Amino acid sequence: MAEYTDIRFPAGFYWGTATSSHQVEGNCTKNDWWVWEQEGGHIREGGVSGIACDHYDRFEEDFALAQGLGHNAHRLSIEWSRIEPEEGQWDMAEVDHYRRVVESLHRHGLTPFVTLHHFTNPLWFRDRGGWLNPQAPDLLARYAGFMAKELGDLVPFWLPINEPLVTVTACYIAGYFPPQRKDMAEAMVVAKHILLAHAKMYQAIKEATTHRPQVGVVLSMSYFEPKNPDSPGDVAMCDAAEALVNQYFLTGIDKGIFPPPVGQGEEAPGVKGTWDLIGLNYYSRTLVSAEMLTKGAYMGEPPPDAELSLMGWEVYPEGIYHLLKRLAQYGPPIFITENGTSTQDEDARCRYVLRHLWQTHRAISEGADVRGYLHWSLTDNFEWAEGWQQWFGMVSMEPGTLDRKPKPLAYLFRDIARANGVTAEQFGKYVG
Ligand code: GCO
Repeated sequence: MAEYTDIRFPAGFYWGTATSSHQVEGNCTKNDWWVWEQEGGHIREGGVSGIACDHYDRFEEDFALAQGLGHNAHRLSIEWSRIEPEEGQWDMAEVDHYRRVVESLHRHGLTPFVTLHHFTNPLWFRDRGGWLNPQAPDLLARYAGFMAKELGDLVPFWLPINEPLVTVTACYIAGYFPPQRKDMAEAMVVAKHILLAHAKMYQAIKEATTHRPQVGVVLSMSYFEPKNPDSPGDVAMCDAAEALVNQYFLTGIDKGIFPPPVGQGEEAPGVKGTWDLIGLNYYSRTLVSAEMLTKGAYMGEPPPDAELSLMGWEVYPEGIYHLLKRLAQYGPPIFITENGTSTQDEDARCRYVLRHLWQTHRAISEGADVRGYLHWSLTDNFEWAEGWQQWFGMVSMEPGTLDRKPKPLAYLFRDIARANGVTAEQFGKYVG
């Protein structure tokens, strides 16, 4: 057990939360997820995003709450299907809505981190083949350039695509997200298109703006280890997961190529160096077994004595240290753009955050240029195929009224954000 001491984070460190449009706004009726939910049978306990957290209409209240809880930053996503409900047709009323949202963030002292694509697709994009469509990169780039031009210098940090490899794996390999494909060949095509889309969006944003916003990737990385290091099958599967999920985008952008398993290292035109920052979404370690693909245990098989979240994910704070150290080798500054846990044990939630902040600070003290921690999430929200059966928020919502009610972590996080550090006493209270 670590000997916890007071720790301080670098000056100017960003503290806040992350959300996504479909999970919190409500009534994202023109995207593929909304329609998929209505089909029934896909979402746990028949959940639907529905009104979600009603954030579309309560964003002022939510940002005032975040400000009051000591936050100085906030990550959100713009819902593409609102902006471009039909191909090539911009809904200027929705553009105005997001301009008001970002202006409100500034009024509440919250630096905006804006994601443009967070899993959901407009129905017209789905109907044109979605990410399999060779035009996908250009279609995403047109949207990115348009929004960057419209919001101009209101947005200092752009994050074009949230977790591109989750789209590849969940939508085209595991098949538990729409369009529910289980086709490795299709997944490799999507992986090429989504890397090209990221790069074209990066360029489009740079060309559409004059205030030099920072534009970066948001990578969902797990700390992969073979379940049995002496099993060649486990080691091979672990290496395969590592190469696709963690390394593909890193090597692709670092070297401007399509690395294995997607390509053979051939040039990926326009991709090299398209990142001013690296966003890390980290939740857990994944112990990988050879049977992973066949058994569908895509989040691996945690050790029998592991502390698990309600998602079944192992609590493994050391993993964020190892991944931050790896990311530090690439050069761009790093932001933790998601970290959190689904639980109804609020002490466990506080313990999770403190242990991950301790490991984050450990990486910083060893030279990693980490500049922010955006917790997933502000309020409990629609957890994709898990529906409303997960609780990632530091704020709960009263059933019916959806009135916000901060949980213990919200107040602990406030004290940490205001102090820009954690005390030995706080560690002692929650971690022991
Ligand atoms: C993701 C998404 C979030 C999830 C969060 C908890 O990482 O999958 O960015 O939308 O809700 O990670 O699973």
